[in-house]
Amino acid sequence: MTSAGRRLLASAAAMLLAVSMASAVESASAGETDPGVKDTTPFAVGVAIDQRETTGTAGVLVARNFDQVTAENHMKPDAWYDGQRSLRMHPQAAAILDFASAHDLHVYGHTLVWYQQTPAWFFQNASSGQALGTSDADRAVLRERMRTHIFGVARLLSERSGLFGAGNPVNAFDVVNEVISDGPESDGLRRSEWYRILGEEYIDLAFRYADEAFNGVYAAPGVHRPVKLFINDYNTEYASKRARYLALVDRLLARGVPVDGVGHQFHVGLTTPVDAMAQAIDAFASRPVTQAVTELDVPVGTPVTAERLEAQRTYYRDAFAVFHARASSLYSVSVWGLTDSRSWRAKDGAPLLFADDYSPKPAFYGVLEAAPAPTGVLNATTRCVAGRIVVVTTVENRGASAAAVTVTSPYGSRALRVAAGTKASVAVSTRAATVPVGEVTVSSTDLVFGTDRSGYAAVTC
Ligand code: XIL
Repeated sequence: MTSAGRRLLASAAAMLLAVSMASAVESASAGETDPGVKDTTPFAVGVAIDQRETTGTAGVLVARNFDQVTAENHMKPDAWYDGQRSLRMHPQAAAILDFASAHDLHVYGHTLVWYQQTPAWFFQNASSGQALGTSDADRAVLRERMRTHIFGVARLLSERSGLFGAGNPVNAFDVVNEVISDGPESDGLRRSEWYRILGEEYIDLAFRYADEAFNGVYAAPGVHRPVKLFINDYNTEYASKRARYLALVDRLLARGVPVDGVGHQFHVGLTTPVDAMAQAIDAFASRPVTQAVTELDVPVGTPVTAERLEAQRTYYRDAFAVFHARASSLYSVSVWGLTDSRSWRAKDGAPLLFADDYSPKPAFYGVLEAAPAPTGVLNATTRCVAGRIVVVTTVENRGASAAAVTVTSPYGSRALRVAAGTKASVAVSTRAATVPVGEVTVSSTDLVFGTDRSGYAAVTC
């Protein structure tokens, strides 16, 4: 239920309006009566998790609110190796995969090639331990390491959860992460170890290897490219970084590199104009790629006050309004964590949608409020009963969330709450000789009403 709906109900109660034939007002503790975020968006919504969010209340909350999960840390390059440099699946990655399979969630993979959280030995000569150079032999070593890593990850994922496109919950992957420079380098690329040794070629190779592994060798036969391959970066809400990002994506597409999607991390703050996120998405809208908001969080600063949490509600509402308006460009929108204290930005002040006790924050309701108003249908019937005209008004809520509705007529008003997908009725009666069409009206801040008044006939008694 939206906070606007709550306010409407509260004021209705305060005015002691009679609530007749309305369903009982439900308790909204822990968001149990609220719709899930996923039921209010046309795009998939996701959340970054680790094993802690796969059990108990956190697990219930994830499954109810989200379509997909991202491993916050345990599918990053270094998570795939034990202390002996042997490839194996991290137990936390396994827990996340199994949780996703059990709850019919997708997994957005993160990430195959990055400059952080990557074993140092990737970039070293195996026998001497010296840093790899740029000789043909050293470059061949690093190419082969990348290929072996990507194929190894795809193999382990498919061994545990099935071939891609046939039961495996993984349907997208950040192939490369944060490859764009923060400063104005001539080619706009980050000076990482990958770049130092291989140059821009490493980005092409990562996508080509990932496509071979996830959409070829470990894909179910006959399924066309089941795993969407993303490039991902931060600060795309800034024009200069965005320009470098766009230039790289254009070069990759021109070279026929299999890039399916462009990710925007959107680690923003209350002072980031939401329009900057709109501009970031719009910049890529004409390119043959889908897009994802991959790591959204919005800290409020400290101390965390009720006022700031209210500003955060407005921010999330406006941000999701931007996303709704661009739904056709968006593959998914993910928040970077479930509850505030678990966030990597916790010290910047309560950045997420749920409080540590798992209760939905104002920000959660902001997200719900961004959903275009669902439709409701008013249908009234009139009849004569013992000399009185009785008007029965039925309100149908075709939306995804419960709605507070007020039925108004010259003969009395009624407030009622209509659960999603249900109908509720109120009756008013009058000794008047006639009830003209349109004299009974309904209003709601939660629903937009269609014009179906087919059952409403003027009556004379
Ligand atoms: C962060 C995690 O949230 C932290 O737990 C970890 O200590 C560091 O990495 N961009 C990314 C994410 O692509 O992988 C980062 O995640 C946040 C910034």
